[in-house]
Amino acid sequence: MKALVYDGPRSVSVRDVPDAGIERPTDVLVRITTTNICGSDLHMYEGRTGLEAGKILGHENMGEVVEVGAGVDRVQVGDQVSLPFNIGCGFCGNCERGNTGFCLTVNPGTAGGAYGFYGMGPYAGGQAELLRVPYGDFNCLVLPEDAAEKQNDYTMLSDIFPTGWHATELAGMRPGESVAVYGGGPVGIMAAYSAVLRGASQVFVVDRHPDRLKLAEKAGAIPIDDSQGDPAQQILDATDGVGADRGCECVGYQAHDAQGVEHPEMTLNSLFQAVRPTGGIGVVGLFLPGDPGGADADAQAGRYPIDYGTLWFKGQRVGNGQANVKNYNRQLAELIHRGKATPSFIVSHELSLAEAPDAYQSFDDRLEGWTKVLLKPAA
Ligand SMILES: NC(=O)c1ccc[n+]([C@@H]2O[C@H](COP(=O)([O-])OP(=O)(O)OC[C@H]3O[C@@H](n4cnc5c(N)ncnc54)[C@H](O)[C@@H]3O)[C@@H](O)[C@H]2O)c1
Ligand SMILES: [Zn+2]
Ligand SMILES: [Zn+2]
Repeated sequence: MKALVYDGPRSVSVRDVPDAGIERPTDVLVRITTTNICGSDLHMYEGRTGLEAGKILGHENMGEVVEVGAGVDRVQVGDQVSLPFNIGCGFCGNCERGNTGFCLTVNPGTAGGAYGFYGMGPYAGGQAELLRVPYGDFNCLVLPEDAAEKQNDYTMLSDIFPTGWHATELAGMRPGESVAVYGGGPVGIMAAYSAVLRGASQVFVVDRHPDRLKLAEKAGAIPIDDSQGDPAQQILDATDGVGADRGCECVGYQAHDAQGVEHPEMTLNSLFQAVRPTGGIGVVGLFLPGDPGGADADAQAGRYPIDYGTLWFKGQRVGNGQANVKNYNRQLAELIHRGKATPSFIVSHELSLAEAPDAYQSFDDRLEGWTKVLLKPAA
């Protein structure tokens, strides 16, 4: 089969690799119809994780079931399925609690597995023609009959729509509240969209790329251009000096100022300012225990100068981590099916697998108009 392989920093290629196949009786084999490039892929693409060369990338996958293992009861050949980027077993303590992003079975020695991801187990990614799905009965969300017609909406269920929703959930958002989102990438836009769907009174999106700020407006948010002044102050000014009730961090450890200089802690410290006392903050932007490209020894060990005193003094709560996609994907699929949500509004490009290497470069450069890239390996 053809697959997109990581060769080293800023180098990926489409190659012939051995076909994915059923390895265990609980596996399902999926022919990928749509697989997206994510901001998480870019941390790996840029060599800012310890990812080893040879890994097939791709954790935002959907497709058609072409084979099921002997121990699979529910999922059937021909089903159109969305696959949460996290791989869960369904029976460990964390999966039982709904924390499928921290499964204790699929990546022994740590918590959480994913396709094509650094530090998340040996699983190949789905930027390929075929994908092996472990514990297929648990991990496949079988889609309704409009799966093909609404493919570009349903493809957001594998990661960014649930992840954006999770950011608002971690922040403890309630209807009628105001929400400040940092980062106008696909995840930030989905957090803003989720906040609007959940009945926010005001939603802000902080970024500096005009095309991304325009998308934020399309999602129903107020754009905050941080190249035009301190974003926290702009949010305080728009909330009668009180601050937003909730904050969502959707940038991660490669946060930088408008001039491009990285300050991994800057969005967190700004959120502590922009959110009201006793408000909540959800951090879904990626932070890791190590960063080979960190500016100094502390950054290389994932240690950052966080304004803990401000956080403590304001009595704010912070929730962190990978999104437990399975907690949300069924309900969000229903919103799509019934016409209440159309997350495809962020799609900018639909490309073949062969075009993926160029697409990585353009998305990584945050070129104007490259907001969300969908790859169609089966086309
Ligand atoms: N927790 C999860 O489960 C999960 C899932 C998916 C993605 N992620 C992470 O979410 C983050 C965002 O993903 P994405 O696909 O939207 O990525 P992206 O790189 O496309 O978007 C990030 C955006 O942040 C903006 N930005 C950079 N510095 C900023 C700052 N200081 N203030 C405000 N905005 C700033 C950039 O201009 C860019 O538009 C990444 O770190 C990704 O790894 C986490
Ligand atoms: Zn992703
Ligand atoms: Zn588990």
